[in-house]
Formats: sequence, C-alpha cells, structure tokens
Amino acid sequence: MFVTVEGVEGAGKSTLMGMLAAELERRKLSFVRTREPGGCGLGAKIRPLLLDVSSRVDSRAELFLFLADRAQHVAEVIRPALERGEWVLCDRYADSTIAYQGYGRGMDVERLQALNDDATGGLWPDRTLLLDLPVETGLARALARNGREGLSLSEGRFEAEALAFHERIREGFLARAARWPERFRVLDARLSPEELRAKALEALGL
Ligand code: TYD
Repeated sequence: MFVTVEGVEGAGKSTLMGMLAAELERRKLSFVRTREPGGCGLGAKIRPLLLDVSSRVDSRAELFLFLADRAQHVAEVIRPALERGEWVLCDRYADSTIAYQGYGRGMDVERLQALNDDATGGLWPDRTLLLDLPVETGLARALARNGREGLSLSEGRFEAEALAFHERIREGFLARAARWPERFRVLDARLSPEELRAKALEALGL
C-alpha cells in the first residue's frame, strides 16, 4: 500500500506521518517512512539545492531537480518496498510538483502530469491524505517551527513566497482531490491530532 501525505506549509504532515508510523508499528506491519525531496542518497544531495533561500533556481531547473529526486526515490526506495509487500508512507510526492510547480509557479499542469508519469514509471499512490487548512494558519505554524529549529535561513525558500502563491497551491491540491476522489481523502488540518489520527486511520482502512 502506497500512501502519500500532502498539504501546504505547516499543515502538520510530519505529525500525522509520525502517528501513522506508530500505528503500523503497533500492528506489526512492515513499512518504509520516507519523504520528498530527499528520500534517497541522491535526493539527500538534491534537497539542500532546492531549499536554499540564497540560490536563485530557475523554475524549469527546479522542476527537473524535483523530478530527478523522485525518479531515483521511486527506483531505489519506493518500488522495492512495494515489491516486498511493505507499506510506504511518503511525505509529499508527485501531487506536490503539480500543486507547487504547476498551480504555484504556473507551469502546464497536464504536462507536469505526463512528466511525473515519466519520472515514476506511472507509479501513483493508492491513497493520498491531503491535509487542508487556510494558508495563513499553515504559514504561521511553519514560521514558528522554522524559528524553533533555526531553519529560517537555510530551509525557507518556499515559505518565503507570497501568500497568493500558497493560495494557488492550496486550490491546486483541492482541484486534484476533486479530480481523483477515489485516491484522495481531504482532512481538515485544524482538527486536534487525535481527531486527525482517527480520520486518517479510517481513510487507510486501518
Ligand atoms: P520541506 O522542508 O520538506 O517542507 P514541508 O515540511 O512543507 O514538506 O520542503 C519541501 C518544499 O519543497 C516544500 O515547500 C514544498 C516544495 N516542493 C515542491 O515545490 N515540489 C515538489 O515536487 C516537492 C516534493 C516539494
């Protein structure tokens, strides 16, 4: 079972990922917990290039870095785990590219869909949990977290974008959820962690 968690900045993906991983462990189900960008050796090298606020990456170059990260991640981590019959929990995946580079940066969404098919060999998640909340709330949370972790300089390139950019991303995710209702489950990220956990487990049939 291939599960992805998606959402705007500060939606609480890491907290939800942690709760899902704990539940799979409790049930003694084998799983791999991973993320994009940076879920494999090559990706760990690409990730700082993508998140560094000081670098001015052209949006096409940015796109191909995300796709390169994904291609290697699928080949090296995700597909092998699925072939072993394990669960894969992935924090962000192809829907993030379509939301951020497509709806956010204005690149052609259908083209991005096809490029993601190329990068992944057509591998899409069985289930995508979309954590949805107003972008102001999410950005305030993300900013507080970055401050706590001292990441504001090195890891804030996307957070630093204008509010309108994040609004487009939120709408993009919601548009995708409406287009693929079988795969997506939209969860209100403002619920308490306990309520979210319950809804997420239900969405995964656990
Ligand atoms: P990360 O620190 O993982 O952020 P978050 O905690 O919000 O997941 O940084 C990933 C950033 O990269 C995030 O702002 C979203 C962006 N991104 C894209 O623009 N395109 C993509 O394909 C992916 C996977 C992420």
